[in-house]
Amino acid sequence: MKGFVFDAYGTLFDINSVIEACKYIIQDPEGFSKLWRAKQLEYTFLRSLMERYKDFWEVTEDALTFAINSFSISVSQVERKKLMETYLYLKPFAEVADALRHLKNYELAVLSNGSPMMLNTLLENSGLKHYFRYILSADEVRTYKPSPKVYALGPKYLGIPKEEIFFVSSNSFDVVGAKAFGFKVGWINRSGTQLDELGMKPDIIAITLEEMSGALGL
Ligand code: LAC
Repeated sequence: MKGFVFDAYGTLFDINSVIEACKYIIQDPEGFSKLWRAKQLEYTFLRSLMERYKDFWEVTEDALTFAINSFSISVSQVERKKLMETYLYLKPFAEVADALRHLKNYELAVLSNGSPMMLNTLLENSGLKHYFRYILSADEVRTYKPSPKVYALGPKYLGIPKEEIFFVSSNSFDVVGAKAFGFKVGWINRSGTQLDELGMKPDIIAITLEEMSGALGL
């Protein structure tokens, strides 16, 4: 393995941080945040199929509007802005910094649906930016994961064949997509979910990044 490429949301960063921000606005912050995330992903899939790209910030905002309307709540412009900004201040999972330090002799990159503004700001705010040689965004190819066009940014920038890149994600659809593309794949199944039935299986399943390094003998 010559390089490691990481998904961002749910893998390095805890999107449940959003629940905290929703607490002040809605009685069921978990339900609200779940719907927001589900719609955010659904819109990326739909926009990719329709070939109607909008960047991830806009998609996230559209998904927020859907969630607000579904819960029939009224949210001021200030609160809306606050909710959106949680995406720029998500907390990294506890083991992430140590795990990245442990891999510092490899080429490391982030490859995410997030827009360049979202990823750069989040990585800077969390203090993790310096671990990564490349911050790759689906925005460059104007479509979303699991399109192979997005995964192809990995070998293109790292200059390493895809078979020698280890892709790490907690999102089942992303694991399957990366495997279909031809990466070696680690599934960080933090929440004990089920793998999607799409015929592809990860090479390694672990609960944390540290456990994954251990399983790789690193
Ligand atoms: C990302 C989404 C899939 O970071 O979580 O690309």
